[in-house]
Amino acid sequence: MESTDYIKLLSRWAHIVPAIILVGGSIFMNLVLIPALGESDDAREIKNRVKRKWAKAIMISAGLIMISGFYNAFLAYKGDLHPLYTGAFVIKLVLVAVVFYLSSLLTGRSEEALKFQQHEVLWGKINMFAAIMVVLCAGLMKVAPRNVPAQTNTPGVTSPQTKSQPPLRLYLPTKKEH
Ligand code: HEM
Repeated sequence: MESTDYIKLLSRWAHIVPAIILVGGSIFMNLVLIPALGESDDAREIKNRVKRKWAKAIMISAGLIMISGFYNAFLAYKGDLHPLYTGAFVIKLVLVAVVFYLSSLLTGRSEEALKFQQHEVLWGKINMFAAIMVVLCAGLMKVAPRNVPAQTNTPGVTSPQTKSQPPLRLYLPTKKEH
């Protein structure tokens, strides 16, 4: 392996591990923790403590995901990318913004965040689905073709690109040149 391969591997790890923490944590919270705690003063206190810890995990994970994500994107970009790849990437970025925004409100302690948390069951589920969609988009990017499809010409139709190409000439030395 070359030294650049080690950097690629590190960047991949730095993307996948925090992604697992973020998405897995959100699934665990919504499907297990919040329903199991129910509604009581004790439950509220536990939720608040969990949120404080979870907010730190989200911040670190989001930082690593952003840095490694942009590096991954830099590696993937080699001229024109296939529309399927680009489309999945754009949708993924929009969903990532939604996940980061909702996560910050769901774990925040500002007045606005506390007001938002009155509907935390609904927004938590929306956040979880958005996070799962992000992973699905990443999967699509993985299998999508990278490069734009090669231009094919319909018989009898000359594309502008073909027109602008100079005709192929064979250079044959004349007798004088010998
Ligand atoms: C919640 C946030 C995110 C999650 C859960 C996530 C998840 C993933 C996963 C699971 C992969 C596949 C990794 C692999 O097989 O090596 C991946 C790849 C990738 N991610 Fe993310 N990601 C997130 C945010 C971002 C951001 C913010 C960016 C860009 C700024 C980004 C750019 C990429 C790129 C370019 C790839 C490589 C795709 C490929 O060509 O195969 N990701 N992501």
